[in-house]
Amino acid sequence: MDFKDQNSTFRLSNGVEIPCIGFGMWQTPSDEVGVASVLSALEAGYRHIDTAQAYRNEQCVGEAFRRSGVKREDVFITTKIWNDAHSYDLVMSSFEESLKKLDTSYVDLLLIHWPNPQALRDRWQAANAETWKAMEELYRAGRVRAIGISNFRKHHIDALLETAEIPPMVNQIKHCPGVIQTEVEEYSRSKGMLLEAYSPLGTGRMLESEEMKALSEKYDRSIAQICIRWGLQRGYLPLPKSITPSRIEENLRVFDFEIDEDDMNYIAGIDAGVRNASNPDAVPF
Ligand code: A2P
Repeated sequence: MDFKDQNSTFRLSNGVEIPCIGFGMWQTPSDEVGVASVLSALEAGYRHIDTAQAYRNEQCVGEAFRRSGVKREDVFITTKIWNDAHSYDLVMSSFEESLKKLDTSYVDLLLIHWPNPQALRDRWQAANAETWKAMEELYRAGRVRAIGISNFRKHHIDALLETAEIPPMVNQIKHCPGVIQTEVEEYSRSKGMLLEAYSPLGTGRMLESEEMKALSEKYDRSIAQICIRWGLQRGYLPLPKSITPSRIEENLRVFDFEIDEDDMNYIAGIDAGVRNASNPDAVPF
C-alpha cells in the first residue's frame, strides 16, 4: 500500500480519483454539532465526506462549506438515495433536495443506500433498475461524477447488472475486524467496484477489545488508527465517524506505520461483539 496521506486516492473504474479516507456521517447529529464536526474534519484535512439523505445531516455539510472557505471542487462528497425514493421521479426530485441541502451543484458519488426496501420487497429488482436508470442519467449529464451501491450482496448486484448500462463504481458495506463479507467483497471487486467500509470501528465497539488494546501497545497507535489502517491495507476505503475534534484528527494519522501480515490476519478474526452486517433482504425499513 503506497498511500502517503489522506489526499492519496483510489481510482474508480471511470478514472475518478477518490481520497482514500472519508469522513463518515452516519449517526452524526443534524444540528450545530454536525456542522462543527464537518468543520473540524475540513480543518483536520479530510477532503472526502460521506453523508446520506437518511442521515438527515446533508445540510450540515452545506453549512460547514459556507463557513469554512474550503473550495467545493477540492472536496469529494458522497450522498445516498434513501429507500423511499426508489423510482425515476423520486430519484430526480430527492437528488435536487440533496443538492440544495449540500449547497452544491453536483455530487461526486451517488449511491443506492439499500437494495431491498421493506416497502418494495416484492419488486425490488424493478425498483432498483428504475432507480439506476435515473442515476445513469444524472451521471451522463455530469451532475454526479460517479455512481454506485451500498449494502448490495451478490444477488442484488446480478439483478442490477441485468439492465444497467453503466456498471456501479463503488459498493459501500460494513467492514471492520470480525465483520468481513468475503463473498460480497470478492464479487464486487470482480465487477470492478471499489469497496468502501462503513463502521470501520465497529461503531466504537472495537475500542473495548482486549486484543486490540494489546495491538495498540505493540504498534504504539490507537485502536482506532489500527482499525482504519487495517481497512486500508485490505484495500477498503474507510469511513470513520466522529464528532470529537481530537478523534477526527487522530483518525487521519494512519500513514506512518504498517501492520504486518500475521497481524492483518489475526485482526481479521478478532471478535469484539460487533453486530454482523444487517441482512439487506430483511431490514425493517
Ligand atoms: P464520537 O463520535 O463520540 O467521537 P464507526 O466509525 O465505526 O461508526 O465508529 C464511530 C464511533 O467511534 C463513535 O461512537 C465515535 O465517537 C467513536 N470514535 C471515532 N473515532 C474514535 C477514536 N479515534 N477514538 C475513540 N473513539 C472513536
